[in-house]
Amino acid sequence: MYRILEILRRESGFLSGEGIGKQLDISRAAVWKGIKKLRQEGYEIEAVTNKGYRLVLHDTMYNDKEIAQGLETKKFGHPIFFYKITDTTNGCLRAAAVEGAPEGTIAVAEQMTAGRGRRGRHWEAPAGSGIWMSILLRPTIFPSEASVLTLLAGLAVCQALEEETGLSPQIKWPNDILLNGKKLVGILTEMDCEMQETHFVIVGIGINVNTAEFPEGVNDVATSLYLESGRTFSRKNILQRVLLNFENLYEAFISSHSGFAPFLSRYKEKCSTLNQEVRVIGKETFFAQAVDITPEGELVVIRKDNGKQEIVFSGEVSIRGGK
Ligand code: BTN
Repeated sequence: MYRILEILRRESGFLSGEGIGKQLDISRAAVWKGIKKLRQEGYEIEAVTNKGYRLVLHDTMYNDKEIAQGLETKKFGHPIFFYKITDTTNGCLRAAAVEGAPEGTIAVAEQMTAGRGRRGRHWEAPAGSGIWMSILLRPTIFPSEASVLTLLAGLAVCQALEEETGLSPQIKWPNDILLNGKKLVGILTEMDCEMQETHFVIVGIGINVNTAEFPEGVNDVATSLYLESGRTFSRKNILQRVLLNFENLYEAFISSHSGFAPFLSRYKEKCSTLNQEVRVIGKETFFAQAVDITPEGELVVIRKDNGKQEIVFSGEVSIRGGK
């Protein structure tokens, strides 16, 4: 049936059932059966007597076939595991990774019932509104270097959103993405490793795209592209752009062997945490002024209580706005 889809996709006008059948060497009845199945998957296919069939392409079509269509990456998104509903894409991808899935494999869900957030929190992932995606990486790096991948993912998503929407989201160190001060994107990186060896890394990315409302309690801190701009966006286009940006940054990181340093200035440009008062929540909680980011991607802060400089490592702390 996907061969029928490909034929329809290439043709902007109508194509007769007979014509499609000839191209594929199948009967008109088999073409009709395939069309029915495609419709069941959500494709809109017009059928007009004496003219034939025509595919009406909607940006809202969101599945593995659509995501693969026009994807310009070499590795990221090859292959794609797509779930209409699942518990958590990070979990699905972990299972695939253990079975030997290649680097770049992604798991994407229309809806997640047990979406995972950082620090054991739940991540709201209803159907039809957001991008819930996990990407499998198999870098030959020490486990201690893996936090850079989270920073790069944040930078890639921020750039992708800017390019695709014209909006100006900002990174809250280390890797939340905010729009007008509210959270638009969350990133959860999970790793399978030994002391000195990284087996694989899973970068889970949640982007609130067309969400029209959030549950009580979440709505004052979370937002979506739709809520901030009044426009809806193609999840497929954004997802493809995120993959392309992330693949480019990841390849540059792996081949340069220079850690986070080559990306520092781009990251700082997009980071709204700098020069702000923050509350560092780790083993100890304290107020501080965020003053810089090191070439390793750590946050440099000056404590309010004693004026001393401290380095805050990503992954170990939560940063909140001051006060
Ligand atoms: C956060 O708490 O900010 C991180 C949220 C991460 C959510 C994404 S959505 C895709 C992937 N699968 C999950 O279960 N969680 C991550």
